[in-house]
Amino acid sequence: MLSYRHAFHAGNFADVLKHSVLTLVLDYMTRKEKGFHYIDSHSGAGMYQLSNEYAQKTGEYKDGIAKLINEENIPEALQPYINLISELNPDSNTSDLDLYPGSPGIAKRFIRRQDSTHLFELHSTDIKHLTDFCYRWKKTFIKQRDGYQGVLGLLPPPSRRGVVLIDPPYELKEDYQKAVNTIIKSYKKFATGTYILWYPVVKRELVEEMKRAFTNKAFNNNIKNLLQIEFCLSEDSDEYGMTGTGLFIVNPPWQLAAQMNEVLPYLKEKLGDSNSNFMLNQLIDE
Ligand SMILES: C[S@@+](CC[C@H](N)C(=O)[O-])C[C@H]1O[C@@H](n2cnc3c(N)ncnc32)[C@H](O)[C@@H]1O
Repeated sequence: MLSYRHAFHAGNFADVLKHSVLTLVLDYMTRKEKGFHYIDSHSGAGMYQLSNEYAQKTGEYKDGIAKLINEENIPEALQPYINLISELNPDSNTSDLDLYPGSPGIAKRFIRRQDSTHLFELHSTDIKHLTDFCYRWKKTFIKQRDGYQGVLGLLPPPSRRGVVLIDPPYELKEDYQKAVNTIIKSYKKFATGTYILWYPVVKRELVEEMKRAFTNKAFNNNIKNLLQIEFCLSEDSDEYGMTGTGLFIVNPPWQLAAQMNEVLPYLKEKLGDSNSNFMLNQLIDE
């Protein structure tokens, strides 16, 4: 029984990190004329209304995107993401942000005629929202099925160009290993793809296990060029709750690390406090 609904969390600090990276990756992919596959294993609803009861109940976006949207002197690397949110909210000020895009909403802004979009979502309500959101969006394929298996079934893409986002809810502890294993298996089928894996920092040990799985040669894992990015609002804790958020990125665009070096201190300044920290680590070299 799935209970996670991204509508409660849309636009929070974790979305800001994930979606600013996704924006930079997709922007990079569209610099070449040749088409690519965008594959989203856990798509959510596609677009979120921040005025609805879910977002208002938690108010998480108020400590995320709402704190950035009207800032001046945004770092250049964060600008494409902020522009995208601004375009969706032409009359916005910090109190009345109306719409926030999920990962399919971000992708929609970049996908061209020569590209194709493959979205997986299991939740019976969110799949309906997602289907409505994608109405008339050409070359978009939406499936209500397990995204981990769905990704593997699509690789390698015929164009040999692809971006895969793996963004599980981590309701189940097994998601941590399943997500890494999906990338390891995917990489064997398609070693030149860009893979973005999102994770929450709830228990540090679970993140360490993911790192070990990525770097452990015993898994016959040949992954190269793996970047880890993390932004934590507070120190690690044994209490329940997400203190930070991170991404593992296989085959990131060459300038992504430099771009995030600019973005991360800014996020700490605007969204964090003196207990916040960030990290950018090339875990495996090219
Ligand atoms: C964190 S949310 C996704 C948010 C979205 N990627 C975004 O950035 O806007 C995770 C989603 O995965 C869905 N989900 C859970 N298990 C799944 C699975 N095995 N396959 C596909 N979707 C799944 C949940 O219903 C939920 O909507």
